[in-house]
Amino acid sequence: MEAIKAKFENGEADRTVKAITLSRYGPSSLLRLEEVPKPIPGDDEILIRVRAASVNDWDWGLMRGKPFYIRLLCGLRKPKIRIPGVDVAGEVETVGRNVTKFRPGDEVYGDISESGFGGFATYVCAHESALAPKPRTMPFIEAAAIPHAATLALQGFQKMEDLGARHKLLINGAGGGVGTLGIQIARSLGIEDVDGVDSESKLEMLRSLGFNNVIDYTKTDFTRAGKQYDLILDTRTNRSVFDYLRALTPNGIYVTVGGSTARLLQAFLLGPLIHRLSKKRIQIVALKPNQGLDYINELFEAEKLKAVIDGPYKLSEAPQAIDHFGNGGHKGKVIISMDQEN
Ligand SMILES: NC(=O)c1ccc[n+]([C@@H]2O[C@H](COP(=O)([O-])OP(=O)(O)OC[C@H]3O[C@@H](n4cnc5c(N)ncnc54)[C@H](OP(=O)(O)O)[C@@H]3O)[C@@H](O)[C@H]2O)c1
Repeated sequence: MEAIKAKFENGEADRTVKAITLSRYGPSSLLRLEEVPKPIPGDDEILIRVRAASVNDWDWGLMRGKPFYIRLLCGLRKPKIRIPGVDVAGEVETVGRNVTKFRPGDEVYGDISESGFGGFATYVCAHESALAPKPRTMPFIEAAAIPHAATLALQGFQKMEDLGARHKLLINGAGGGVGTLGIQIARSLGIEDVDGVDSESKLEMLRSLGFNNVIDYTKTDFTRAGKQYDLILDTRTNRSVFDYLRALTPNGIYVTVGGSTARLLQAFLLGPLIHRLSKKRIQIVALKPNQGLDYINELFEAEKLKAVIDGPYKLSEAPQAIDHFGNGGHKGKVIISMDQEN
């Protein structure tokens, strides 16, 4: 207690922030809640007081160093990124000298995956281009849920030309971030007939979001169920590309946002050949962070989009939150709120 008092008396507390830190790849027990130096924004950066963050596949992969490409990107033997967290929502505290887009006090949100991560902390610096203005009516907790997953879904739909009400869409892995936001984005684009695939515990939630039919992947393989779709959006590509072709109508488009590295590679290599031999198409989304957030803001303000929140967890509970995400069973987006007592 005396030590903490002394810290406040000499102003040290203002120069440190709380963060979840990572020093080695491995289980969540290796993560630590620590006091780290308060980040200082560069000329093109803003310092954000983080109010909420959400857990993504990036965090699960970064923590474990798996799949292997994570080590190629983030450090072979140990992570170069010390603080996970890519989806953040918060308030601008200070701005770098070249920043023109934001001022102190602005409310912002965004995917900071190309700006060094660091969202699982009470403060983070990010390039101004990595943030968008947050609608005032959007709660921080919901704002943290949206950037990564909503733009993945939106950019997936942008690969599907000629969207319309006559189309039948299936979202595979529908109960996570991309699927729960994706159905709402699909409706805004005029698609009415949407099926969703996930595990049994999420099917009721999917029905309540408006999915017309729901399929339990532990009981039914949708690629063998006899129904064909004009559009498939997959968050969990784990089958041969030929299985997906079976579930597509003759002009159908299969778009994957993620899944097993080997299956994605197969889709990447065979996609062009398949399109030469048939009218079916296979597409892979390479996410452009935050692209499309202005459209998402419009949907939110028109009350056409609402995130499904799992949590919120306290910052100190981030290791459990990451495990909850990675081990499955979460519904929608797993949220960490810095406003909860830590
Ligand atoms: N393209 C890019 O540039 C890019 C960038 C970043 C991330 N990503 C990828 O984008 C995806 C993000 O999706 P997300 O955030 O919505 O993930 P998520 O929240 O984990 O949701 C995935 C859902 O799929 C379910 N699922 C698990 N196994 C399944 C199976 N065999 N069949 C059907 N559903 C299954 C999960 O349920 P359970 O609870 O039962 O496991 C979960 O509800 C990830 O694959 C990620 O790697 C792509």
